[in-house]
Amino acid sequence: MHRLMRIWRPYTQMQTALPPLPVKDAEGAYINLKCGRKIFDGISSWWLINHGHANQEITEAISSQAKKIEQVVFANFTHEPAEELIELLGTFLPKSLSSVFFSDNGSTAVEVAMKMAYQYQVQSGRSNREKFITFEKAYHGDTCGAMSVSAHSVFTNPYGKMRFEVLHAKQGCYLSDPIDNWVNDFEKIIQTHSDEICAVILEPLIQGAGGMVMWPVKAIEIISQRAKENNILVIFDEVMTGFGRTGSMFAFEQTLVIPDFLCLSKGLTGGFLPMGLTITTEQIFDAFLNDSAEKMFFHGHSFTGNALSCAASVANLKLFQKMNIKKIIQPIEEAHKAFLEKCSRRLAIKEVRVCGSIGVLELNMDYQYGNNFSQKMHQLAINENLFVRPLGNVIYLMPPFCSTSQEIERSWEIIENSILELII
Ligand SMILES: Cc1ncc(COP(=O)(O)O)c(C=O)c1O
Repeated sequence: MHRLMRIWRPYTQMQTALPPLPVKDAEGAYINLKCGRKIFDGISSWWLINHGHANQEITEAISSQAKKIEQVVFANFTHEPAEELIELLGTFLPKSLSSVFFSDNGSTAVEVAMKMAYQYQVQSGRSNREKFITFEKAYHGDTCGAMSVSAHSVFTNPYGKMRFEVLHAKQGCYLSDPIDNWVNDFEKIIQTHSDEICAVILEPLIQGAGGMVMWPVKAIEIISQRAKENNILVIFDEVMTGFGRTGSMFAFEQTLVIPDFLCLSKGLTGGFLPMGLTITTEQIFDAFLNDSAEKMFFHGHSFTGNALSCAASVANLKLFQKMNIKKIIQPIEEAHKAFLEKCSRRLAIKEVRVCGSIGVLELNMDYQYGNNFSQKMHQLAINENLFVRPLGNVIYLMPPFCSTSQEIERSWEIIENSILELII
């Protein structure tokens, strides 16, 4: 008997979705379809690809590693790519961030930080500190813990009580909003709950899936400082902002803050293979040292420390060592700014904003994620060989770093024409 097997796609309404586009291969900033069309990857394939698709150095590193060792139990064995990875990573990080825990993706990097922070507080005699603070527009992933510290939104609404209770701080929306709008609610929460709070989690400089919301640096600094004064651990989720996206290797470098936890994934392997890292301090690491097994960190995934992912990450970091991030990102940033400034006079816009390689156009409309407008906008762009996925009324470009100013300008033109076609 013939049995129909089908693929259930991520973030897709399977009843109305158009069939997926068959891909032949991808190179640089382009996804090449089997039918011969070349699609410009305007969102770096869900914010993963930094140097470009099929980057030669990363491809070769994975291929040569595959001939040696793919996977061992990371609890008992180690291998060269993992050792080389943490050594290289150390050259990009402040000395205090010295302990690296491996996992599989962005959500697990966040889960690990949350579990470590919680257990750290308990093992340091502060078992009353059980709560997390997060922000109104946050997105930290799709596993239950990561969903719990994410905003109440279309992404999390269907999952009700599967999300445990956390404290949601109200925040500002725009860079021009007064700092008080960004920090006052957080301040109020810590005034009443300070002894119950384990950690605060935030996406530094820019909240991604929540609508590409950009933080004033000062707000991040005030929140982190107030947290530290109150023994609240600071978790920076740089799953999206890490690896050059915001114009520096990590977003936290543009602030005065060094977090207690740094969560990385996506661009870590150049976007080639799944891996997450949670990096923390010696103080946290030491709190798990004990003669008793009960105090160890009870977490691990089958694929922890995958040697192919580590080799890809090493090759990726070597590329970063050779490149001047600012110089590479600047033309992208300028291309975004040049177009967005012009088009903000032509369209009904709430705000245009740019942060490193990320350019954002927020329309003055109340569209939600996944609505008709975003789907039609996506489709019109695809018809013009541009891949974008608007977040409701927020349309953004986050192209690979090898994109040219002309490609960015052309992409914005396609976006503007599509908007005009849809709203007129
Ligand atoms: C800031 C942030 N954290 C966590 C995640 C979850 O990462 P993953 O999809 O790899 O689980 C994402 C994904 O977009 C993200 O943007």
